[in-house]
Amino acid sequence: MDNPDDSFEAKLQDAIANPKNMGEMPDADSIGTVGSADCGDMLRMFLKFTDKDGKKVIDRASFQSFGCQTAIAIASMATEMLKGKSISDAQKLSAEDMTTDLGPLPPVKIHCGQMVEGALRSALNEEEKDHHSNPVDTNTLASSLVTPSPKGGKIKINITQPENTP
Ligand code: FES
Repeated sequence: MDNPDDSFEAKLQDAIANPKNMGEMPDADSIGTVGSADCGDMLRMFLKFTDKDGKKVIDRASFQSFGCQTAIAIASMATEMLKGKSISDAQKLSAEDMTTDLGPLPPVKIHCGQMVEGALRSALNEEEKDHHSNPVDTNTLASSLVTPSPKGGKIKINITQPENTP
């Protein structure tokens, strides 16, 4: 029997009705950007860390997406899931972990989850590489994502392949 409330599409519509943590984070400690060469979508993840009992944990996470609704839904869930996680715990999160609430992704949407996972790993690697060094210049990075034009829409996208693109 067809039960639209349990369908992937219904869960997806639910998840994107009120996406969480969407938007640039001006005071981010690290930023990861990944694009898919196949579909042309891209996603950028921002992480802010804090100290909790002498341990570095993720305080906040946000994302910018030029992508499909599935990627937005997964990034929204992932950024909620990341709060309070250490770098090593966050590194263990797979695309499947981040999409639990949506259920199994249709084959054609699996790469959407991998893109979110790739952006997270990229941001975590960035933090490990650069920790205790200079803060990220989000103005420069943001302008590489989107260069707004007062005369009308010029978009520049820097594509980075996720580490484990199939
Ligand atoms: Fe490419 Fe979703 S269709 S990221």
